[in-house]
Amino acid sequence: MLKSHSCAELREKHAGQKVILAGWVHRRRDHGGMAFIDLRDSSGIVQVVLNPQISPQAYQVASSLRNEYVVQVEGEVVSRPKGTENPKLVTGGIEVIAQKAVIFNPSETPPFYINEDVEVEESLCLENRYLYLRRPRMRDNIILRHRIVKFMRDFLDARGFIEVETPILIKSTPEGARDYLVPSRLNPGKFYALPQSPQQLKQLLMVAGLEKYFQIAKCFRDEDSRADRQPEFTQLDLEESFVEEGDILQLMEELLTSLVETVKPAMKVLKPFPRFSYREAMERYGTDKPDVRFDLELKDISDIAAQTDFAVFRSAIATGGKVKGICVPGYAGLQRHQLDELLNLAKSCGAEGLIAIALDGVKSAAAKHLTPAQLKDIASRFKAKPGDLLLLVADKSEIVNKTLDELRREMARRLNLAEADLLAFAFVVDFPLLEWSQTTNRWESMHHPFTAPRREDIPLLDTEPGKVYARHYDLVCNGCELGSGSIRIHQRQLQEKIFKLLGYSKEEMKHRFGHFLRALEYGAPPHGGIAIGLDRLVMLLAGEQSIREVIAFPKNQNAVDLMFDTPSYVDKNQLDELNLKLKHEIITGS
Ligand code: AMO
Repeated sequence: MLKSHSCAELREKHAGQKVILAGWVHRRRDHGGMAFIDLRDSSGIVQVVLNPQISPQAYQVASSLRNEYVVQVEGEVVSRPKGTENPKLVTGGIEVIAQKAVIFNPSETPPFYINEDVEVEESLCLENRYLYLRRPRMRDNIILRHRIVKFMRDFLDARGFIEVETPILIKSTPEGARDYLVPSRLNPGKFYALPQSPQQLKQLLMVAGLEKYFQIAKCFRDEDSRADRQPEFTQLDLEESFVEEGDILQLMEELLTSLVETVKPAMKVLKPFPRFSYREAMERYGTDKPDVRFDLELKDISDIAAQTDFAVFRSAIATGGKVKGICVPGYAGLQRHQLDELLNLAKSCGAEGLIAIALDGVKSAAAKHLTPAQLKDIASRFKAKPGDLLLLVADKSEIVNKTLDELRREMARRLNLAEADLLAFAFVVDFPLLEWSQTTNRWESMHHPFTAPRREDIPLLDTEPGKVYARHYDLVCNGCELGSGSIRIHQRQLQEKIFKLLGYSKEEMKHRFGHFLRALEYGAPPHGGIAIGLDRLVMLLAGEQSIREVIAFPKNQNAVDLMFDTPSYVDKNQLDELNLKLKHEIITGS
């Protein structure tokens, strides 16, 4: 080894020892005729003192050092004089007095600060990812990710789960996104699809009799990137035979609570995880991924609104809509521009307007249309007090919920209502199995077509499919959809019935799912499972706002890897080998 110790491993107990360190110049300072460098390696930082009286050689090397040069330092660990300790560093009680220094490699000036966590334009940190990853925060995130995955593997192994790798070149499995396709050279005109998830494969492993499977699985979905979405991402995917809903939910609760206790003991978890039915979540929070760290719950006042002379209320209700709202404590004194911002937010959700009633004695415009008794009824529905602000939306039910969900989260941000270190996991259950799509004019699965309907609802599949509930569950945390799963269909006849309801013809069924339907005929056991978005989980535990901060090499908004500059054009002969011809003349820039 070119080093004897890691930088951050050194403590008072090493005082007097000779060490060899190697790493990067994090920061350098000159002071009183001596040079000081903060030397950084993957473990952290230690201060090195280059004193010309002790080593003229080391001091001379120091004079040419710039940030990010990679160096080796030989020296002695000494305790820092009293009063000069640095409490911000774990190594702050000691320093290393250099006796020899060697430059392994100089460095160009990086395009952004590595020793300061200031915001950098995203394209710069993606193009220079290897430099961005040098930032201590990013290093910590990547290490946290490793610890989380290691914990999961150990936890599941101890419970008898077996990790199985499943193929990446496969056939399309519907998860609701577009597939990434890979042309086959050996089978001209044919394509593989990259898995949107290992859904069918994990079910086939249950048919294979494995009983308990898991995988840290790569998934690929050609959909627009967002803060919590990447075209390629990772799931903790698992499946178990002979289970019911409660078994998987309990396993998840145990896994996540012990995970947080082990890798992030400073964070708090709400136990037991609350469970909401889909309908309750929509009614109380306006979303199926509620953030339950704070209240601000939605209240329905449609019954009171229907009795008023207020045209906005009456017309929403007359057209089948609703009037709902939230009560923001102590926010009645908001300023005009703050209200305008909230109004714009409401409009961006499709609402026509936002009715704000300040309960401070000042009559708001909307209050003019309400009698004192009606106002009192509304205020008491919210248990509102003087000084509170009511934000009401009257519109179609979907718009009301969407708008109030946004407003609720925005107000929690403004008022800092969510405890930063709290992880509020919750399960959402009792989803409808199907939803009617206005665009395709047919039934679509709320989850995916392999989800079992509730046993008692099976007869309704023939008469009222919209009333069938699914054995599907979601795991949410702090307003983020963290995972999804279900008990699966394990009988061919029922699976065919669902495919038929979803509009697949016999031929399509055979072509797309023939292999799967056949497998169900060979003693497929009852089974179920779940997949947790690993990137999202690490993001929450790391306290980051975007999954890009916890993925070593993520893609940008347009699914481009800026470091490799890919996707990229390929040579014509590569296309020829694949029997592909581009439809339009494309300027390749070559
Ligand atoms: P689902 O499609 O809900 O279920 O995905 C499970 C979890 O994966 C995460 N996730 C994503 N994370 C980052 N970027 C994306 N583009 C992305 N898409 C999904 C989310 C989500 O909750 N096969 C089923 C699971 C099952 O039924 O067992 C599935 O994939 O956190």
